Amino acid sequence: MDFDAVLERFHDDLARVEEAMQESLASDVQLIPTIGRYLFSGGGKRLRPLLLLSSARLFGYEGPRAITLGCVVELIHTATLLHDDVVDEADQRRGAPTANATWGNHASVLVGDFLFATSFSLMAADGDVRIMQAMAHAVTQLAEGEVLQLVSTGKLSEEEDEYLEVVDRKTAALISAACRIGASLGGAPPAGQEALSLFGREIGIAFQLVDDALDYMAEEARLGKVVGKDLMEGHGTLPLIYLYRNATASERQMISDLLTAEEVTRQQVDQVIGMMKDYKAIDYTLQTASRYVAQAKQRLAVLDGSPDREVLTAIADYIVARDR
Ligand code: FPP
Ligand code: MG
Repeated sequence: MDFDAVLERFHDDLARVEEAMQESLASDVQLIPTIGRYLFSGGGKRLRPLLLLSSARLFGYEGPRAITLGCVVELIHTATLLHDDVVDEADQRRGAPTANATWGNHASVLVGDFLFATSFSLMAADGDVRIMQAMAHAVTQLAEGEVLQLVSTGKLSEEEDEYLEVVDRKTAALISAACRIGASLGGAPPAGQEALSLFGREIGIAFQLVDDALDYMAEEARLGKVVGKDLMEGHGTLPLIYLYRNATASERQMISDLLTAEEVTRQQVDQVIGMMKDYKAIDYTLQTASRYVAQAKQRLAVLDGSPDREVLTAIADYIVARDR
């Protein structure tokens, strides 16, 4: 099964999630639906709802709660992106101007708060304390991950641990929660929920590592974001850590200077990309991502063979194969 077949299989459920997202924007404060609709129509892979739906189906659940909670996880994700683009001063996402570039930082933060609050209202109405706990835990980790990243801005280490800690929290935690919540909807036993949670965590780490590789290697038009954005923002992601570890003393000096520079030109980004090619830093990053995906797939091996297991492996494979 490939990723398109997965999307086809979940087409109707994903359309229902989309409807629920639109409904969640109901507010007489006009700016909320205006910005909300702009964000939702801007595309996005809906990976988190898809993982929640498919984890639920793996354990035999196909009911309406998966739609609501799929909507919840995408609302939280959208809220974090709104806040993230303000923090990163990003002006482009998914090939279009960011909300902060269009409506300003204040509107972005506050509408992010609305989406975040709405997601918790929906969860409260659903009424499952364990699910609320899982999501609250994930969101706490997410916020910690972002703060950890903030304090590491401009810093570069030869070690990967601290960086992987950021990734684990800022990206993997929510993806892991989506999988765990899906499994819990399906009434999975604790071991099954744990397996899905670890599966989600590992594909989540891989997802961010691929994102970090794409930041340097993607075709800008397809990526919908500026190439070399992480370097410009002072984020020492895995490709840069690996490059830094292997570079000569003068190259290392140049890399750390660029990471703290006020401005980084496209030419300088290209120079770093050239070094990454020489040192195979992108290859290393993608190989590391593939290792996490392979480990994630192993987590599913403990479950009974079900056709829906193939859905999850196809999503895992897509994560490393994607080009945007
Ligand atoms: C994208 O990372 C951003 C995240 C994975 C998480 C952002 C989380 C927050 C801002 C904090 C929590 C917010 C709430 C509402 C609780 P990136 O900058 O690496 O990716 P990008 O290139 O797509 O921007
Ligand atoms: Mg960002």
